[in-house]
Amino acid sequence: RRYFLPADTTAGALGADALAEQLQGALHEGETVVRNGSRGAFWLEPLLEVEEGGERIAFGPLDGRQLGELLATDYTQWREHESCLGSVAQLPWFKAQTRLTFKRAGIDDPLCLDGYLAQQGFEGLEHALHLAPEDIVEEVLRSGLRGRGGAAFPAGIKWRTVAEASAEQKYIVCNADEGDSGTFADRLLMEADPYQLIEGMAIAGLAVGATRGYIYLRSEYPRTWEVLHRAIGKAEAAGYLGDNIGNSNRAFHLELRIGAGAYICGEETAMLESLEGKRGMVRAKPPLPALEGLFGQPTVVNNVLTLAAVSTVLADGAEAYAALGMERSKGTLCLQLAGNIKRGGLLEVPFGMSVREVVEQLGGGTRSGRPIKAIQAGGPLGAYLPESAWDTPLDYEAFAGIGGMLGHGGLVVFDDTADMAAQARFAMAFCAEESCGKCTPCRVGSTRGVEVIDKIIAREDPAANMTLLEDLCDTMEHASLCAMGGLTPHPVRSAMTYFPEDFCKDVGEV
Ligand code: NAI
Ligand code: SF4
Repeated sequence: RRYFLPADTTAGALGADALAEQLQGALHEGETVVRNGSRGAFWLEPLLEVEEGGERIAFGPLDGRQLGELLATDYTQWREHESCLGSVAQLPWFKAQTRLTFKRAGIDDPLCLDGYLAQQGFEGLEHALHLAPEDIVEEVLRSGLRGRGGAAFPAGIKWRTVAEASAEQKYIVCNADEGDSGTFADRLLMEADPYQLIEGMAIAGLAVGATRGYIYLRSEYPRTWEVLHRAIGKAEAAGYLGDNIGNSNRAFHLELRIGAGAYICGEETAMLESLEGKRGMVRAKPPLPALEGLFGQPTVVNNVLTLAAVSTVLADGAEAYAALGMERSKGTLCLQLAGNIKRGGLLEVPFGMSVREVVEQLGGGTRSGRPIKAIQAGGPLGAYLPESAWDTPLDYEAFAGIGGMLGHGGLVVFDDTADMAAQARFAMAFCAEESCGKCTPCRVGSTRGVEVIDKIIAREDPAANMTLLEDLCDTMEHASLCAMGGLTPHPVRSAMTYFPEDFCKDVGEV
C-alpha cells in the first residue's frame, strides 16, 4: 500500500509535513509514504491519498486528529471515515477539468525521473531532437500557444524572432518571478512537475539555437528552489541537460537564479537587469529582448507555464493542442481561484468557459457564503469585474473587449462586504510601493493617486477629486514606460465605474 501526501508549499503550510511524520511512524511492512506534489485542489489540502489495487482513495482536508483516528482503525474501515472523499479520479473538481500542463501534478514524487518518464516525460524533447530548429518553431506556431505570463504574445513568433537573429550566444530565460496577487500556478508547476519546465526550456534552446538558460525564481519560493535545484541536478546526471542532451551532440545548460523580492522584476527587462547583477529597473523597448536581451544577446523570455506547455505541444502535436480553446485563445488556461472562494486552487480548463461557471460552479461561490460582489482577473493590475461581466468567456480578446485582462490566470473573489474604494486605494498604493521609479507618471502619479483617493474617501470635494483621479489615471495609462504604471488605472477605474457607491455614499454627489 502506498500513501501520498504532498510536499509542496501550500500543503506544507496547511500541515502536510506533520501528517507525513505521523504517518511514517505508523507504517506497517510493505507500506510507503510518497511525498507527491499537490494536485492543486488547495481547498482539500492536506490531501492524503491511499493507493491499493490500482485505485487511489482521497482523504481531506485532513488534520492530525483525523489521521490518528484512521491509523487506529483497520484499513477496511477507512472509507467510512468523515474525511473520505472516495476515488480521486471521480472527484467532480478534477473531472470538470482538462489537464495538459498539470496532468502529472500530484501523481508522483516530483523528483522521480522514472515516474516522469512513465507519464510521457521527455517525449516532447525526444520529438524535438528529431526536428530541424525551424520545424520546432513551426510546431509551436501552429499550436497557437500564447504567452501565459499575462501579455499573451504568440510564443512561436517570439521564438522565430530569436531563431532568426544571428549571435554567438543566445539565451532562454524563464520568468518564474510570479508576483501577481492570487496566483500560484508557476509555483505549483515547478514544485509538482519540475522536469516539465526543464524539458520545455531545452526544447526552446534547440528551437532558437540557445545553449544556455536561466530560471529567474522569486525568493519567496524556498521550497520551489529546493525542488528545482535537485531536479536540474538529476536531469543533468541523466543527460537531459548539459553538453550532449539526449546524445544529440547539442548542448543546453540550465541555471537557477533567485530574485530579491521586487514585483517589478517580473517585468521582463527589469528581470534581465537583475539577472545581469544590476538593480531591477525597466529598460525602454525597443530593443526587444528577443533581439537584445540578456547581456545584449537575443533572448527568449517566457513564463513558466508557456515553457511547460511546449513539452505537451511537442509530445502530442500542435493540432491536438490547437483543437482546444476558442478563437485565438488555443489550448488550456491554468486558472487560479483565490480570495473569498469556497474551493480555491488550480483549475485547468480549455479557454471558452465563462467566469461565472468557473467561480460559481467549480469554485462553489464565496467561502463566507455571502454574495459575490467583484472578481479581479489578471492580478493587481487587472480590473474588478462586476456581475454584468461574469458571463464573458475566458478568452484573451473577449476580456480585452470588456476592458479586462486574463493576465496570468488569477481570479480573486470578493464578497459583498468588500469596499471597492479601499481596493482602488490598494491598487495605487501597490504601484507606489513596487514602482521601479524610472518614470514620473508611475513613480509620482501613484503616490498622488493614493492621496486623491484618501480625499475622496474623506469626502473632501469628492466630485472634483473624482475628476482629478480620472485625469491621473489617463496620464498614468498613456505616459508610463511599462505595464506597472500603465495598467494600475485598470483596477482603479473599474472600481470607480462599477462601484461608485463605495467612493461616495451619495452617488448623486459625483
Ligand atoms: P508586452 O505586450 O509588451 O510584451 C509581451 C511579450 O512579447 C514580451 O516578451 C515582448 O518582448 C514580446 N514581444 C512583443 N513584440 C514582439 C515581437 N515583435 N517579436 C518578439 N517578441 C515580441 O507585455 P509585457 O509588458 O511584457 O507584459 C505585460 C503583461 O504582464 C500584463 O498584461 C500582465 O498581465 C502581465 N503581468 C504578469 C505578472 C505575473 O506575475 N505573471 C505580473 C505583472 C504583470
Ligand atoms: Fe518603473 Fe513604473 Fe515606469 Fe514601469 S511604469 S518603468 S515600474 S516607474
